[in-house]
Amino acid sequence: MSAKFASIRTGELPGPKSAELIKMRVRLISRAVGIVAPVYIEKAEGSLLTDVDGNVLIDMASGIGVTNIGHRPAEVEAAIKDQAGKFIHTCYQVTPYESYLRVAEKLAELAPGLGLTKSVLFNAGAEAVENSVKISRHYNKKTASFSFTHAFHGRTMMALALTDKEMPYKAGFGPLPETYKVDFPYCYRCPLNATYPSCGIACADKIDEIWSSPQFEGKVSSLIGEPIAGEGGFIVPPKEFYPKVSKICKKHGVVYIDDEIQTGAGRTGKMWCVDHWPGAEPDMLVSGKGMGGGFPLSATTGRPEIMDAPQVGGLGGTFGGNPVACAAALAQIDIIEKSLDRVQPINSYMVKRLGELQQKFPVIGEVRGMGAMMALELVADQKTKEPAAKEAGAVKDAALKRGLLILTCGTYNNVVRMHPSILMPQEMLEESMDILEESFEEVMKA
Ligand SMILES: Cc1ncc(COP(=O)(O)O)c(C=O)c1O
Repeated sequence: MSAKFASIRTGELPGPKSAELIKMRVRLISRAVGIVAPVYIEKAEGSLLTDVDGNVLIDMASGIGVTNIGHRPAEVEAAIKDQAGKFIHTCYQVTPYESYLRVAEKLAELAPGLGLTKSVLFNAGAEAVENSVKISRHYNKKTASFSFTHAFHGRTMMALALTDKEMPYKAGFGPLPETYKVDFPYCYRCPLNATYPSCGIACADKIDEIWSSPQFEGKVSSLIGEPIAGEGGFIVPPKEFYPKVSKICKKHGVVYIDDEIQTGAGRTGKMWCVDHWPGAEPDMLVSGKGMGGGFPLSATTGRPEIMDAPQVGGLGGTFGGNPVACAAALAQIDIIEKSLDRVQPINSYMVKRLGELQQKFPVIGEVRGMGAMMALELVADQKTKEPAAKEAGAVKDAALKRGLLILTCGTYNNVVRMHPSILMPQEMLEESMDILEESFEEVMKA
C-alpha cells in the first residue's frame, strides 16, 4: 500500500526526539498515567498529528473522542485568539461574562426532548458527572445512585464509583462512595442469556423490579447511563432500551442522567446520541469532550426545577466555563451543527470495510457502533467468545507502526475502537481502513 497521509520517517517508533522525552517522562511523571502511543506531538491539523521527529499519524483516537471536527478548525482557532485578546479568566461566579450564557443557551436549544433548559459549566467530564449526582440528590432528597455494568463515568471519587471496570480504574482507590449497578444490554454477551428482540428488553424490566424491592423502593435518586458504553467497548443498546428505562425512571421518581460525554457533540450523526431514540427523555444531560473545541469544558444541563434545587453557592468552581473554553465551544458547536450530514457517509464506508474485515478474519466477533464511533470486538473463538485482548493490543500496535492511531477499550480489553473526525476526508478514511486491514494481516500471520 502506498500511504498518502501517514508517514513514519524514523522507521520505528519512537523516533529519537520522542525517545528523549520518554526518558524525561519516566523521571518526572507518575507511571500511573499510561500512554497509548510513544510519540510526543508537535503539531496537529485536521486529522493528522505530526510528532517531534516529523512522523505523521492519521488520528482515529481524536484525543479520546474530543476533536470531533478535527484539530484546530480555523473558526475555533480564531475564536480562541479573539477571546484571549480580550480576557482569559475572571471566574464566572465573581464577574460573569456573556459567552457562559451563550453556551448554556445553545445547550438548552440542542437538548433532547423538551425542558432541559438550565446548565452549569465545569471543566472535565467527571466533574459534570459528580455534579449531576449531587444535584439529583438535592432535588429528590433520595440517596441511592445507580449506573450500569460496563460503564465509564470518570476518575474522581463519585464518577469512579459509578464506573464499572476494576482494572485499571478502580483497583486500590477505595473506599468509594456507595453506588449500585444494573445490567447494561450487552447483547453480544447478554447478561440474561437471552436473544434480542425476543428478550423483550427484559434487562430494563429488571431495573423496575430492583427499584420496587424493599431495599430500594423510594430510595433511588438517579440513574446515569451512557447511550453507548464507550470505554466499556462501544456497546450499542437496542433502540427500545433507553425509552423503556426512561419510563421506569419516571415511574420511580428517579433522575435519568444521560452521559453524552463521549457519544455527544455530533459523534453519532445527531447532536446527542439519545436523539436517535424517541421516547428516551433524560432529566439531565452531561456533556464534555467534543463540545469544547479541545478545551476542558463540560456541562450539566437539566430541567429547571432540578437544576435550581441546590442553594446559592452550592454549585460552581474557579475555572468552570472559562471564557476561552466557551468561545471555543461556541465556534465548535456551530460547525458540528452544520456538519452532521457528514457522519452517515463515514459510517457507511466504515461499516462496509469493517464488515469485509470480519469476513476475512474470524478473530473479529462483532462489528458495532454508530456514526463515527465504530469498533471491533475480538474473540479467540466465535462460539465461546473468549476475549482476544492480546490480539486487540497487537492490532493497535501494528496500526501505529504504519501511522494509524487507534485505541483499544472494553471491559475485557478486547475491543479495537475508532472515533475519526466527522470531517475526515474519504481518501484518508480509505487509507486508514487499508492500514487496519494490513495490521490484521500481520497480527493473524504471527
Ligand atoms: C462517557 C464518559 N463519561 C465521563 C468521562 C470522563 O470525562 P473526563 O475524562 O473529561 O473527566 C468519560 C471519559 O472518557 C466518558 O467517556
